[in-house]
Amino acid sequence: MTIKILAFSGALRQASTNTALVRAAKQLAPEGVEIEIYDGLGQLPFFDQDLEAEVPASVAELRQKIADADGVLIASPEYNYSIPGVLKNGLDWASRPYGESVLTNKPVAIMGASGSAFGTVRAQNHLRDVFHWLDAKVVTKPEVHVGNNWERFDGEGNLVDETSRNLVAGLVAALVVLIEETQKAKVDA
Ligand SMILES: Cc1cc2nc3c(=O)[nH]c(=O)nc-3n(C[C@H](O)[C@H](O)[C@H](O)COP(=O)(O)O)c2cc1C
Repeated sequence: MTIKILAFSGALRQASTNTALVRAAKQLAPEGVEIEIYDGLGQLPFFDQDLEAEVPASVAELRQKIADADGVLIASPEYNYSIPGVLKNGLDWASRPYGESVLTNKPVAIMGASGSAFGTVRAQNHLRDVFHWLDAKVVTKPEVHVGNNWERFDGEGNLVDETSRNLVAGLVAALVVLIEETQKAKVDA
């Protein structure tokens, strides 16, 4: 059976290295693993509790895509030491209504590319806090911090750095293991 992973980038810009990271993950995914790239974060309205009674179609679509996926893969930049607002907004929408979050028990893997040598360490730690509260299951290792991002991609946005490619492939493999463990635990329960 095919394992379905929904992947998204926390950056909206056309030449985003994080979006390029997600594309690399899709290319490196092993047989039997399908990665769908979701690019709708920029179309979501700002989270507003007044819209919760009847959510916009874009929000319903995001929730459905996460619910249908076996796991979620995120590549995010670090903005001012933290999570980009556009990504946090998407996660806030996905987390609601309280008690019915599509992220509960969802296997999640995080990676990131940045211009600094730290490679989104701080943003990823903040993301882990968010997923901790949401009871998502987050892959711990490998940590994928693609620092000095301008050196790691070619002019077409292909991830060419071998170490980074191995880390991304390793992260997808670890996510698949976590998905399989989660599914087995559900069957055994
Ligand atoms: C608003 C803003 C804040 C940023 N803050 C950080 C930061 O805190 N840490 C960091 O390493 N890079 C920071 N950067 C630089 C990003 O690492 C760099 O722009 C990166 O390429 C963004 O990812 P992208 O290529 O996917 O767009 C910031 C960039 C922007 C636009």
